[in-house]
Amino acid sequence: RESITSRRQRTFAMIKPDAVGKLGEILDVIEGREFEITQMKMVRLTQSQAAAFYREHEGRKFFEALLEYMTSGPVVAMELTGQDAVSRWRATLGPTDSSVARTDTPNSIRALFGTDKQANAAHGSDSELSATREIEFFFPSSKVVDELLPQTTAIL
Ligand code: TYD
Ligand code: MG
Repeated sequence: RESITSRRQRTFAMIKPDAVGKLGEILDVIEGREFEITQMKMVRLTQSQAAAFYREHEGRKFFEALLEYMTSGPVVAMELTGQDAVSRWRATLGPTDSSVARTDTPNSIRALFGTDKQANAAHGSDSELSATREIEFFFPSSKVVDELLPQTTAIL
């Protein structure tokens, strides 16, 4: 049921390389907070894919180190669906720096599973627009139906 105060929404979540070994525990948190995992895959990013994903940060002093870290092992990409998923997932993550998170939001994912401001366990889209872009980046829309329809029509 849709209303102003209750919006079913999608967001993009990613378990980063340092936290993939804690995947089961992180999935428990995700399910416990009533997000539905509507798409998921494990991939190893290339440098250029990581740079494209984080292009808004190109030129910042942490950018090269961020790319090294994000390509150091597999990541787990997820589309999460639920009420106010974008803001609720950001709140579930906690602040960017895991050491700040341990002080401010000790039950957050970044507090529990991250290390510092680089190795911070997980990503969450910062807006509905970012979520759309990031979901499409990892889960490009399937063209299967479009491609099959003309052929089906021709056969019929
Ligand atoms: P940012 O978008 O500021 O944080 P968030 O992930 O909370 O939206 O930064 C993107 C990622 O870049 C962040 O998750 C970890 C990395 N990062 C650093 O390594 N050093 C930094 O100083 C900052 C600000 C971010
Ligand atoms: Mg961000």
